Order: sequence, then C-alpha cells, then structure tokens
Amino acid sequence: MKNETFQTILKRRSVRSFLPEPPKQEELELILEAGRNAPSAMNQQAWHFTVIRDQALLRKLETACKSAFLESTIEYLREIAAQESFSVFYHAPMIVIVTADRTAIAPQYDSTLAMENMLLAATSLGIGSCWTHAVMMFHASERGKEIFRELGIDFPENHEPYAAAVFGYPAGPWPETPPRNPDCVTIIG
Ligand SMILES: Cc1cc2nc3c(=O)[nH]c(=O)nc-3n(C[C@H](O)[C@H](O)[C@H](O)COP(=O)(O)O)c2cc1C
Repeated sequence: MKNETFQTILKRRSVRSFLPEPPKQEELELILEAGRNAPSAMNQQAWHFTVIRDQALLRKLETACKSAFLESTIEYLREIAAQESFSVFYHAPMIVIVTADRTAIAPQYDSTLAMENMLLAATSLGIGSCWTHAVMMFHASERGKEIFRELGIDFPENHEPYAAAVFGYPAGPWPETPPRNPDCVTIIG
C-alpha cells in the first residue's frame, strides 16, 4: 500500500550532480508552496525563504562557504574541502536558504520541517536536492555574516539561517539509497 506520497518519501535522495539550468519558475513556486505548508510552532511561520538563482552570486557564495569546511574542527570536512574539485554546492544552479526569527518559539524545527517539505516536493517533480550545511556553518561566524552582507544577501531582521539546500535537475542517474538502520525503532505497547 505504498501510495504516491510514500513513494516520493522513499525516492528522495541527496543529489550531488546537477545540470546547469535552474528549476522552472512554476516548479520553484510549487517547491515554495510546499515549504509554506509545513507545520510550525503555534503556526508562527516565522520563516523566510531566500532563493538564489543568480549564478555569479551563487558561485561567490559557494567559494565563501567552502572556507567553513576548510576551517572546520571536523577532520573529515577539512579533508573533502581540501580537494580542488570539491564544491560545497555541487555546482547546483539554485539554493534555498530558510531563515527564521531567532526569537520565535522553535525556529530551527520550523525551518527544518519547511525544508523537508521542499525536498519532497522537489523529488516529486524529478528535481534533485541536497542539504548544504556549509551555509549555516559559515553564517555562524562573524566573518561569514559580514560576507553575506557584502554579497548583498540580506535576511530579515533577527533572522538566522537554519536550513539550506541546493536544487536542480540531476546530471546523472537518481542516486541509490544509502544504508538505512532498521534498528532505530522502539515500539512500546
Ligand atoms: C543536518 C544535515 C546536514 C547535511 N549536510 C550535508 C552537506 O553539507 N553536504 C552534503 O553533501 N550532504 C549533506 N547532508 C545530506 C546527508 O549526507 C544525507 O541526507 C545522508 O547521507 C543520507 O542520504 P540521502 O539524503 O540520500 O538519503 C546533510 C543532511 C542533514 C540532515
């Protein structure tokens, strides 16, 4: 009884290779509508979605965000970022950054739920996506905040980025499912 919704949930994978053209406007609007329809604490909807499709800006932001991996305390992140060809945005043609008012009840949960809705909506349209944590890591530093401002990426007042993902048409085959842990469930009663 795996209906279409269930199949979309199972199909969603992190796509890391993209064609250069961004999703069509009508597809983007559907993705954003899915995000807006996520649950939020007390229905505050304290979120804001910043979409970047300007390719020159995207590449500048990508280079800046890579420095967050290069300077990370996590050795694995430093190692992958040190590879010349490594791109934190996988050369994707579009990024969506979900920011939310940091004084809201649960901005991180609200933002993450909105993003998951967007990832699933994108999947249902055959659009690939991948969470890009470097955005949050980079913006967490003072230098990161300054560079976002310098690049003209201004978030609403009191907003922090809590979720970011790149989107685009996959350049290759849809990814295989990485291993899932079947032992992550306890049912009581
Ligand atoms: C909080 C979070 C941070 C992530 N950060 C990154 C990232 O920076 N780069 C990346 O390629 N994938 C990132 N991912 C994607 C995970 O690597 C991916 O979801 C996981 O390997 C499972 O694969 P799947 O999404 O294809 O099911 C992140 C996922 C989450 C939930």
